[in-house]
Amino acid sequence: MANGLRKRLTSYGDAGFSLFLRKAFIKAMGFSDDALDRPIIGITDTFSDFNPCHGNVPDLIAAIRRGVMLAGGLPMAFPTISIHESFAHPTSMFLRNLMALDTEEMIRAQPMDAVVLVGGCDKTLPAQLMGAASADVPAIVVPTGPMLVGHHRGEVLGACTDCRRLWARHRAGEIDATEIEAVSGRLAPTKGTCMVMGTASTVACMVEALGMCLPGGGTCPATHAERLRLAEASGTAAVRLAAEGLRPRDILTPAALRNAFTVLQAIGGSTNAVIHFTAIAGRLGILVDLDAFDALGRAAPVLVDLKPSGAHYMEHFHWAGGVPRLLRELAPFLDTSCRTVAGGTIADVIAAAEDVPGQNVIRGRDAPIMTGGGLAVLRGNLAPQGALLKRSAATPALLRHEGRAVVFESVEDMIARGDDPALQITPDDVIVMRNAGPKGAPGMPEAGYVPIPRKLAQAGVKDMVRISDARMSGTAFGTVVLHVTPEAATGGPLALVQGGDRIRLDADARRLDLLVDEADLARRRAAWSPPPPPPGAERGYLRLYLDQVLQADEGCDFAFCRPPA
Ligand code: FES
Ligand code: MG
Repeated sequence: MANGLRKRLTSYGDAGFSLFLRKAFIKAMGFSDDALDRPIIGITDTFSDFNPCHGNVPDLIAAIRRGVMLAGGLPMAFPTISIHESFAHPTSMFLRNLMALDTEEMIRAQPMDAVVLVGGCDKTLPAQLMGAASADVPAIVVPTGPMLVGHHRGEVLGACTDCRRLWARHRAGEIDATEIEAVSGRLAPTKGTCMVMGTASTVACMVEALGMCLPGGGTCPATHAERLRLAEASGTAAVRLAAEGLRPRDILTPAALRNAFTVLQAIGGSTNAVIHFTAIAGRLGILVDLDAFDALGRAAPVLVDLKPSGAHYMEHFHWAGGVPRLLRELAPFLDTSCRTVAGGTIADVIAAAEDVPGQNVIRGRDAPIMTGGGLAVLRGNLAPQGALLKRSAATPALLRHEGRAVVFESVEDMIARGDDPALQITPDDVIVMRNAGPKGAPGMPEAGYVPIPRKLAQAGVKDMVRISDARMSGTAFGTVVLHVTPEAATGGPLALVQGGDRIRLDADARRLDLLVDEADLARRRAAWSPPPPPPGAERGYLRLYLDQVLQADEGCDFAFCRPPA
C-alpha cells in the first residue's frame, strides 16, 4: 500500500532518521504505528470565520475522514488560505494565485498519497485545481455546495443576482431603506456558495464535468445529508485514487477540458470560469484557444434554465438530475471516454443519470434556451486578444449596437461621476471603463457591471452596452463586454478611446470595433503613458503579482507558475 510518510525523506540527510523523526512528532498527536502505516489522505481545510460559503467545511471534513478510514486510510486535514468574495481586498482574483501557490506547496511539502480539495467560494476551487495540477498528487474535489434559496414577500431570492436587482430598485427609489435591510437578511439564508449560476456554481459544475469530483458533487446543496454522504464517498475514493496512482494529469486532458468548456456554454455559466479554466489548463501546458471555446458555444446550445440568465436555482438543477443529466443531453458534443475520479468514464456517469419526469430546468437539445453561444468571444481593433460577452445574460436588442463612447478612466472615476446629474449620457451611449484589468486595478475587479447612471436608471433604463477590461460577477447580467485584452494599463487599445468616439458591437459577428482610423490611433498611442503603479507596489505580494500576472487570455496566472514551454 502507498504510504506518504516514507515519501521525500531527505530533510535530515539520513532517510531512516527522517522517518524516525516524522513518526516521533506525529505520535505526539496520539497516532499509533498501525494508523501511520496506511495511505495518508490530505484534506485541505479552508474553513474561515470570514467565509460563510465554507461554513460547512468542518462537517464535510468529518465525513471525508470517515470515508478515508472506512477504506483503510489515514485522513490528515491541513489548513490553507480561504478566500471569500466579499472579504478579499482588493479582489479575490488578486489572491487566487496566492492560494494556488499555498495549496501546491503544502501538497508538495507534506507527506500524502492523495489529497481531497475542499473548496467552493468563487476563486477557491480554481486555485486548488491550479495547485493540485502542478503538484500532481492524486486528487479529488469536494465542493462545499450551493446554499438554499431565500424568500422575501412571496418572492424567491438568490445570492447574489437578486442582491443586484433589488439594490438597483433601491437606487431607483422603489425599495426603501427598511425593506432593503430586511432583504439583506434573506438573500443568503444558509451556509454554502451562491445558489445561482454564478462563478462558484459554474466552476463546481465544470469540475464535475471534468471528472474531478463525484457525480452530484457540483450541485447538491451545502446543507443536505446527501452532501455529507458525497464527502464520505469522496474520502473512500481518495484511498482508491492513492492506490491506483491516478493523478490530476491523467484526468485533466485536453478532451476533458473541452467537455468542461462545453458544459460552461450549456449552463450559460460565469465569464470568470473562462479565465480560471484557462489557468488550470495552463498549469499542465495545455493552451486554451478562445476561438475554439467560442466554437464550442456555437455548437452546443444553452440548456440549463438558471439565474442569472434564466429562472431557477441550483437546488432545482440538482433535483432535475444535475450535471449527469445535462451531460446525457450534451453527449453528442462531448468526449465520453474521459476518465473520472469516480472510477469509470463520463459515459458511465451518463448511463447512471436520473430522468426526472416533468422537470423544466434542464432542457432537451431540441428545445434549447439559446443557440449560437452562451458566452461569445469578441475580437476587433478594440480587443485584439479577445473580449468576452455573456450573450445569455444580455439584452437581445443591444447585441448589435453602435454608440458614442462615454469614458471612465478607472473604477474610482466611474464611482465619482457615474451618478452625477451633469453627466452627459443617453441610453444609446456606450459606457467604457478602463484601467480595471489584471494589472490596472490591480486584481481585475468585478466592476465590469457598471451601474446604469442614476438619472437613466430612474428614467427606467435597465441595460446599456458597457465595455471594460474588468471582470463581472457570475451573478450579474446585462450587455456587458468584459476582459478586453490587452488591458488599458498595459497600453491596449482600450486606453486610446476618447469620449465621443463611435464604438460598434456586433455579437453575432463576434466583433468589437472602435470606429477611429488607424492614423488617429497611432497618434494617440504615441502620446499615451502608463498609469502610475498602485500604492505599495514596491514590495511584497503586490510586487510579485504586478511582475508576474498574465493577461486574461492566458488565465491571469503568474508567468513563473506555468511549466516551461
Ligand atoms: Fe462565495 Fe458567492 S460569495 S460563492
Ligand atoms: Mg462571484
